[in-house]
Amino acid sequence: MKTIIEPFRIKSVEPIRMTTRAERQALLKSVDYNLFALKSQDVIIDLLTDSGTGAMSAEQWAAIMRGDESYAGSPSFARFEAAVRNLMPFDHIIPTHQGRAAEAILFSILGGTGKNFPSNTHFDTTRGNIEASGARAHDLVIAEGKDPANLHPFKGNMDLEKLESYLQEHGDSVPCVMLTITNNAGGGQPVSLENIRAVAKIAKAHGRPFIIDGCRFAENAYFIKMREEGQGDRAIEDIVRDCFADADGMTMSAKKDAFANIGGWLALNNPELAELARARLIQTEGFPTYGGLAGRDLEAIAQGLSEIVDEDYLRYRIRTNEYIIERLEALGIPVVKPAGGHAVFIDARAWLKNVAPLEYPGQAVAVALYEIGGIRSCEIGTVMFGRQPDGNEVPAAMDLVRLAIPRRTYTQSHADYIVECFGELAAHMDDLRGYRITKEPALMRHFTCHFEPL
Ligand code: F0G
Repeated sequence: MKTIIEPFRIKSVEPIRMTTRAERQALLKSVDYNLFALKSQDVIIDLLTDSGTGAMSAEQWAAIMRGDESYAGSPSFARFEAAVRNLMPFDHIIPTHQGRAAEAILFSILGGTGKNFPSNTHFDTTRGNIEASGARAHDLVIAEGKDPANLHPFKGNMDLEKLESYLQEHGDSVPCVMLTITNNAGGGQPVSLENIRAVAKIAKAHGRPFIIDGCRFAENAYFIKMREEGQGDRAIEDIVRDCFADADGMTMSAKKDAFANIGGWLALNNPELAELARARLIQTEGFPTYGGLAGRDLEAIAQGLSEIVDEDYLRYRIRTNEYIIERLEALGIPVVKPAGGHAVFIDARAWLKNVAPLEYPGQAVAVALYEIGGIRSCEIGTVMFGRQPDGNEVPAAMDLVRLAIPRRTYTQSHADYIVECFGELAAHMDDLRGYRITKEPALMRHFTCHFEPL
């Protein structure tokens, strides 16, 4: 059969409140054109993030009832630990309330002034936690990863030559080598198993621990199965195990590829590091058998991990993005290619040639998409990255708009609706104008700044 269907039926639904274009125009004005300030009931299709926004399965809801809320030694922790270790065989598995909490603990131990952390591309919270410790974060993704139109199959790969010379240059100031799979900030692009192994080998040769940010490990494994030589006949679970086999630890947000609405973990092999991490965990998150989570959350994660490696699910998941991208391309809309794992990225700078980067083409597209169809997306460009620590404003490397797809939440007709809205937008794109920021906070301005149309 050519049609790839959603490999699930729907048991419980949430209504979507339909709004009119006139209502949305008024709403946009009332939130000063910042989509983060919208109420979610005023959004028809919410593609702001794929984090914690997925649908849980009947088995996950059933597992939630099994949650044991004991402060210490809960069997829910034992099930969580076993489910993680089944895929990622680390010695010490430390639950946290989300991914950034795992990062905060890791870098409170490894970070500090004068330290340097390489990765393919650090996610914002990873970079934020590194920099907050006084250390510096560096992105060493391959050149193809920065070119939206390049069709390289593993655009999330680390540049191995750069990593080698980085480690030679920075020597003992590098507490670990990081790798983000898939590379969220670079368009959800995967990292090959070959590259993961090569990074592990280089890190080992330099005596540096190798830590994977594994938020979207299952999507990454599916791309390896589809695209990497010799991997096509292997089970997703086995590919996942190989991805983590040579690593010394991982950070994880269970809000992505564990199908949970909250949660995360830090895993480590080194017992001294793990002891320091648990001590910090007790200060900031909770006792090591719950780490800031309820027992029921640990159960939802454990069950979610057994579902996310289902190949039928992953096929449908990745195909949804490809489907949208193929249709956007047919409308002449520049997109980041090939399709990433968790999101569709629009190259707004290439598309809106009449809107200068400092007039925020990504924001112009995101606002227009909401006005046309009630779709909430997220600018990832000059609004997010343009303000420099010295107060200057410069264009970001790219002006993208991210349509992050929540897991198991929307259907094929929602995808068709998204495409139709883009068709409407493309037909009237000469009317699109840029924006001016009228008010902004000192840090992380994209969350709260005010805009005015030009
Ligand atoms: N690492 C990556 C690669 C991520 O994408 C995220 C979150 C985190 C770490 C932090 O995890 O949210 O559980 O604290 N990404 C979300 C997003 C927020 O929308 O891309 P968290």
